[in-house]
Amino acid sequence: MKVWITGSKGMLGQDLRALAGHDFEVFESDREVDITDELAVSAYLSKNKPNLIINCAAYTAVDQAETETELNYKLNALGPKVLGECSAKANIGIVHISTDYVLSGNPPDPLTEEAPLNPINAYGKAKAEGEVLLAKANPNHWIIRTAWLYGINGKNFVKAMLNLMRTKEQISVVKDQLGNPTWTCDLATAILKIAKNPKNPGIYHFSNEGIASWHDFAKEIQKQALEKKLLEKMIPVLPIASSEWKSLAKRPLWSAMDKTKIMKNFEVQVPVWQNSLSKYLGLEK
Ligand SMILES: NC(=O)c1ccc[n+]([C@@H]2O[C@H](COP(=O)([O-])OP(=O)(O)OC[C@H]3O[C@@H](n4cnc5c(N)ncnc54)[C@H](OP(=O)(O)O)[C@@H]3O)[C@@H](O)[C@H]2O)c1
Repeated sequence: MKVWITGSKGMLGQDLRALAGHDFEVFESDREVDITDELAVSAYLSKNKPNLIINCAAYTAVDQAETETELNYKLNALGPKVLGECSAKANIGIVHISTDYVLSGNPPDPLTEEAPLNPINAYGKAKAEGEVLLAKANPNHWIIRTAWLYGINGKNFVKAMLNLMRTKEQISVVKDQLGNPTWTCDLATAILKIAKNPKNPGIYHFSNEGIASWHDFAKEIQKQALEKKLLEKMIPVLPIASSEWKSLAKRPLWSAMDKTKIMKNFEVQVPVWQNSLSKYLGLEK
C-alpha cells in the first residue's frame, strides 16, 4: 500500500514518515508540493498513485495566525479543500490532522467528536473550516483532532520549557487552560493504525491520556528532566492566569478530548501523557 505524507518535514510528519516505512511504500512531500495548488496536487497524485493521503501540512503558528490571516486561511482551510477534492477525483481516502482548538468547552467532561465546532482564535477558525470543506469534498476522510503536540523534530513546549529552565531564575506558566499533552510518536502510531485498515470514515480524537494545565505540564517536565539529569537545578515554576499572559491568540480554557471512538473503532492505544513524556525525554539531549 502506498501512502503520501504531506508536510513530511514538519514535527509530526518526520515521526510519521519514519514509522510508516515499516508497513507502507511512502511518498512524501513538504513545501515543494504546495497543498493549496490544485494542479501540483493532481499532478503528484497522477504520477505516484498513492492509495491514501495523510495530510500533516498546515500553518501552525497560533499567535501569528491572528495577523497572518491570509496565509493561515490558505493553508488551514483551502489546503484541506484542495486535498479533499483531488483525493476524491483520484478515488482515494485522506487522513487529515486537525486540532483541539476547533473546540472550546467546559469541564468536567472531555469533548467528544459530536461537540459543536467552537473555535475562539483565527487558527482554530481556519482549521474548523478546513475540516468542513474537506469532509464535503471527500466522504472518504479520517479527520484526526489532536492537541498540545511535542516531538523531537520541531519547536514545542517541552523544548521551550527546558531552555527556559536552564537559563532563567524562575518562570511563570498558565494554570487555567486544561488539555492533553501529546507525543507525536503516539499520534503517528494511531494514524498508521487507521491507515492500515481504513474503515468507518469520520472525525476522531486522539491525544495522550490524562488532563493537565500548561503549569502541570511544565512542572512534570521539570521533575522528569531533573531525574534524567537533563536539568542541573530546580527553579520556581509559578502558576499564572491566562489573563496575565500576553499573547495574540485566545486559547480555550477547556479542550480535553474524549478518545473512546478511536479506541473502539481502531483498537488504538492511548498512553498516559506522563509515560510518553518520559519516553520523549529519553531522546532529548
Ligand atoms: N503542534 C501542535 O501543538 C498541534 C496541536 C494540534 C494539532 N496540530 C496539527 O497537527 C498537524 C501537524 O502539526 P506540526 O506541529 O507537525 O506542524 P509543522 O511542524 O508546522 O509542520 C507543517 C509542515 O507543513 C509545511 N508546509 C507549509 N506550507 C506548506 C504548503 N503550502 N504545502 C505543503 N507543505 C507546507 C511546513 O513547512 P514550513 O515549516 O517551512 O512552514 C511544515 O514542514 C497540523 O495539522 C497541526 O494543525 C498541531
